[in-house]
Amino acid sequence: MFKKINLNKSWSFHYGELENPPRKTAKKAAALGGVTASLSDEAGPRVSVSAGGNHFLKLIAQGDTEQGLKNLAGTDLSDKLPGNWEKINLPHDWKRNVSYINDPEELMSGSKPDNVGYYRRTFDLSDEQKQNQTILHFEGVMRMADVWLNGIYLGHNNSGYNHFSFDISELAHYGNEGTNVLLVRADTTTGAEGWWYEGAGIYRDVWLEERNLVSLDSDKAYLYTKELTKNTAKLGIELEVDNNSNQVQVIAPKVHLNDLTIAEFPDIEIKPCQSHKFATDVEISNPKLWTPETPNCYHAKFEIKSDQITKNFGIHTFKYTTAGFFLNGKNYQLHGICEHQDFGGVGTALNQDIVDYKVKVMKKMGVNAWRSTHHFASEELLNACDRFGIILIDENRLLESSPWRVDDLEQTVLRDRMHPSIAFWSISNEELIGNTTFGTRIAKKLTRTIRKNDYEHLIIGAELLNPEGIVDSDYIKNLDILGVNYPEAGVMGAGAKLIHQNNPELPMMSTENASYFSTRGIYKDNEELRQCNNFGSYFSMVLPGLRKPGDPGLGGTAHPEEVLSYLKENPYMGGVFLWTGFDYYGEPSPFNWPAISSQFGIADLCGFPKDYYYYYQAHWTKEPMVHVMPSWNKSEITFDQNGKVLVKAFSNVKEIELFINGQSFGKKETQDCQASWTVDFEPGELKVVAYQNDKVVAETKRLTNKTTTKVVADEIFSGKEIDLFELKAIDENGNFVEGVNDQIRLEVDGGKLVNSANGNPINQTVGNSQTVKLFSGKALAIVQKNDVDTVKVEAKMN
Ligand code: GAL
Repeated sequence: MFKKINLNKSWSFHYGELENPPRKTAKKAAALGGVTASLSDEAGPRVSVSAGGNHFLKLIAQGDTEQGLKNLAGTDLSDKLPGNWEKINLPHDWKRNVSYINDPEELMSGSKPDNVGYYRRTFDLSDEQKQNQTILHFEGVMRMADVWLNGIYLGHNNSGYNHFSFDISELAHYGNEGTNVLLVRADTTTGAEGWWYEGAGIYRDVWLEERNLVSLDSDKAYLYTKELTKNTAKLGIELEVDNNSNQVQVIAPKVHLNDLTIAEFPDIEIKPCQSHKFATDVEISNPKLWTPETPNCYHAKFEIKSDQITKNFGIHTFKYTTAGFFLNGKNYQLHGICEHQDFGGVGTALNQDIVDYKVKVMKKMGVNAWRSTHHFASEELLNACDRFGIILIDENRLLESSPWRVDDLEQTVLRDRMHPSIAFWSISNEELIGNTTFGTRIAKKLTRTIRKNDYEHLIIGAELLNPEGIVDSDYIKNLDILGVNYPEAGVMGAGAKLIHQNNPELPMMSTENASYFSTRGIYKDNEELRQCNNFGSYFSMVLPGLRKPGDPGLGGTAHPEEVLSYLKENPYMGGVFLWTGFDYYGEPSPFNWPAISSQFGIADLCGFPKDYYYYYQAHWTKEPMVHVMPSWNKSEITFDQNGKVLVKAFSNVKEIELFINGQSFGKKETQDCQASWTVDFEPGELKVVAYQNDKVVAETKRLTNKTTTKVVADEIFSGKEIDLFELKAIDENGNFVEGVNDQIRLEVDGGKLVNSANGNPINQTVGNSQTVKLFSGKALAIVQKNDVDTVKVEAKMN
């Protein structure tokens, strides 16, 4: 029966190159030795040598077998771990613990030096496990990875964004043959794959999979929706059974949806070393459709006597026209974000809990779509989107058709195609060769690779625009939808509109928008502190220093208001994908060192919302809400030439009223989900109230700071392994003290502090120190919980 054993725990990690890097080829089988094989305190011989082998080694080295091994096999006989190794668990991003460096070439990728890291782990297998196939599976290693097992070089993986496996059935040690030694070398010095922070090391899960010799091919077990009628769904089923045994097998696969058996194939004989493909269509009544509001996830179980595979499955259909996106025949405007895969403190080493938290923060804003930029979605992201009802664009890293890139794409499509959340595969982002004849050939290869394996999903490319609206008609024929980035931006001119005019039948989508930068809790541009005003910054994407109104790139590519009004005027664009949901490490535009993280996020690196989060929420959610900006501390506010302050509120309610210290500034009707007032500053309480039929339906306030008396730690997310705590400064009345950056000391009970973050774009803290600095009154603590205890975090003020 299929079994998956998690290998995330108990690795030894070595930072930097080893004095004697292990070789990849050996003169005699399984004889590399050194760190790739058993050490003196680990069970089993470094090299397995037969009686004949021993005799031979003696003959060639005057009776000294060790010398013989060195001479003949070239075995590395060093028998201790060289250098410093620390005990770590996966997922692991070694760059988080390395100091930041001021190197303009590393600025975009997060100002951390590149290096090599070694991961070593042992594991034991029983004699019974020898009956099975044993597969070693890596969800993702950044970046170029080399893998060794038991003195043998297993192979190499190029990209940091694909999953990969090795069949180690014969190469593993079983029973008293000794322990298994697994070594991974992850090298980021070989050149980056992206222009953002990518992390380093084994940053996703590692699994040992055991399969019966007569087994289902996991990638080929496929269930998909062919057609929906009023009360039924027609589903297509494909699966393949491999007989790796030496006997004829009689096989009768079954397929179940939750508890319902939907297909039973008749007995079929499969000869030894042969495979057999099964396919059929079935119709089921009253299917529960997967939608963003009802993310009905079925467990699809494929079963034979000796094996079973369970996958998430959703029943739905997809269509995209010049009227936008249709799920199950219903039109959905896509309220999407673009997102890399890192998070405050932990870098790219995210477990399911943190991914769930990220998706929940965005879902609360009203997001129904996510573009995994510019790389394949992780297993954790797919699972979260399946469960939370997020429509996903899963993006290929590059528009290249080198055999290994095509293979990465194919493996990913095969493995992930059944995830209910995937609606689109994107073949690329902003490629220079997109819309060229050369690019057309490559796009053809990539789209064929997807289409031959996936019969349901739509194919898109996120393309660069030009003001003249020039596209290559052969290139775009490969796509179901032409994606264009930043159609709303002034610098793109009328590019997207011209394409639409010239190709009125061409489905188009706006795949990237806004790139609006702001710093949480900040209402003044400040070059020294690398901070941007939430009302809109006077720093430019493309020009240095503070600029004047009207200068190009001011505040980002486009303001949120421009993005949504563009969509309103151009509904054929189908929606938006805002750059980005969260701030991310690297790409600190519009600044340079010492800024180390981007400020494009609608939430900061901790997931704490910035002001415009509420602008989108007002547009995309129904539950009455209101938010007001700025903070109400004189030193934090920008005053106009007349010494007045702009107060702005976002709300999904039509009628709102501003009060300062109880005095009304009149009711206003919201336009574009907002209203603003220009007022004199008066310390105290800034309050906005929202009314429906004269009844108060929402209210918000911001208070002038009093002295911080305490920092509280509120649990804002509780996952399976991790709890997240918001650390917040409060005054004697328990009110939030906004503008402070106090340093605190954390005491954790029932768990271990994994890391902390505060969203400050110049926060260069490294490692998991118990000392944490607040930023704009807040910070985040990520705590790994012990098995049984309830976690308590206490923040002590210094
Ligand atoms: C886009 C690009 C993103 C990011 C963004 C910053 O052009 O696709 O990866 O660099 O610009 O504004």
